[in-house]
Amino acid sequence: MNMGVARQTAFLALAAHLAQQGYTFVCPTPESQARVVQQRSGEHCTTLADFFGWSLPADEKTLITLLPLALLDQLRVASIVTAERDGLSKANFRLSNFYLPHIGDSETVRRNSLYYIHSAFPTKDDDAVFFGPDTYFFLDFLDRASSHLSRKTPTTVVDLCCGSGAGAIHVSHAYPGSTVLGLDLNPRALGLGRINAVLAECHVDFVESNLYSAISSRTDIDLIMSNPPYIASSADGDIPVYAAGGAQQGLALPLRIVEEGVKLLAKNGLLMMYTGVPISYRRPGHDPFLERLEALQDMELLEYRIIHPDMWAEEVGKGAYAEVGRIQVVGAVLRKRG
Ligand SMILES: C[S@@+](CC[C@H](N)C(=O)[O-])C[C@H]1O[C@@H](n2cnc3c(N)ncnc32)[C@H](O)[C@@H]1O
Repeated sequence: MNMGVARQTAFLALAAHLAQQGYTFVCPTPESQARVVQQRSGEHCTTLADFFGWSLPADEKTLITLLPLALLDQLRVASIVTAERDGLSKANFRLSNFYLPHIGDSETVRRNSLYYIHSAFPTKDDDAVFFGPDTYFFLDFLDRASSHLSRKTPTTVVDLCCGSGAGAIHVSHAYPGSTVLGLDLNPRALGLGRINAVLAECHVDFVESNLYSAISSRTDIDLIMSNPPYIASSADGDIPVYAAGGAQQGLALPLRIVEEGVKLLAKNGLLMMYTGVPISYRRPGHDPFLERLEALQDMELLEYRIIHPDMWAEEVGKGAYAEVGRIQVVGAVLRKRG
């Protein structure tokens, strides 16, 4: 069995075990997770959520009470669980839910029961696969923005910068008749996206692509959606390379996604953009992203909403954000003019 197949088989077995044990983990911000990990430093895991959620180390005695031996072997062969020093092991991945599985109607319960696999904490590696509060807000935004779709089912949908595939999977469930494409620069994200789609029992094509490079000749996309990196690169290299939104205080990449995306859209096609916008403390009423969207000739701005007024507060006031008062997260819906 090759590594990819072994890993997928092991993840499926793990997800089945976690579901049977009633495992739930709602992924917090890195700051909240760091606080919990710090408070519990020196402690070992006692629960599945400690191990596959909080990324705490486990000793052998605990692991064999949490996982059947055959499953533990499978996880080790697939490098999902690896040995650390002092007889401890760690999980190299987290599995998270969308909200609490038992709230809401049956479709919501089904959706929230799904597990999404992403990188363990801390996500310091350059090719870490992200999933967190932005992902939750992004999916909520997509749900609300779907009211702008004139046809019930878009034929072709692209989730650009798809990461773990949460947006693409969500849309594939909402529009089972659509062809959904998840694009990302990071092969590790694409690999996990494929497994997450299998876990969610839906079909998404995951393709490696630097922005739209893999589909640059298309002009038939009905819907492009994106939650791209939007945090400015830091001088001390503290931000993993795949997480950096680049120049203009992180606005460069989101702006390229809008400006280059219009060429790929079908007539009246929609672009749903979730991103962070640096707001200068000197001009608290000025939104540089909105200003650029309003100036576009070939796109009509249908909706612009503030989703979070002050996200990633720990980044503000230093480095590229020295003059920034807050980072405002917004959701924009644009339509290609006919
Ligand atoms: C902040 S994560 C968001 C992931 C996902 N959209 C979500 O909501 O969970 C941003 C993703 O963009 C990807 N990315 C960064 N630069 C990219 C580029 N130039 N082209 C394609 N993907 C890129 C990263 O690899 C990462 O998976």
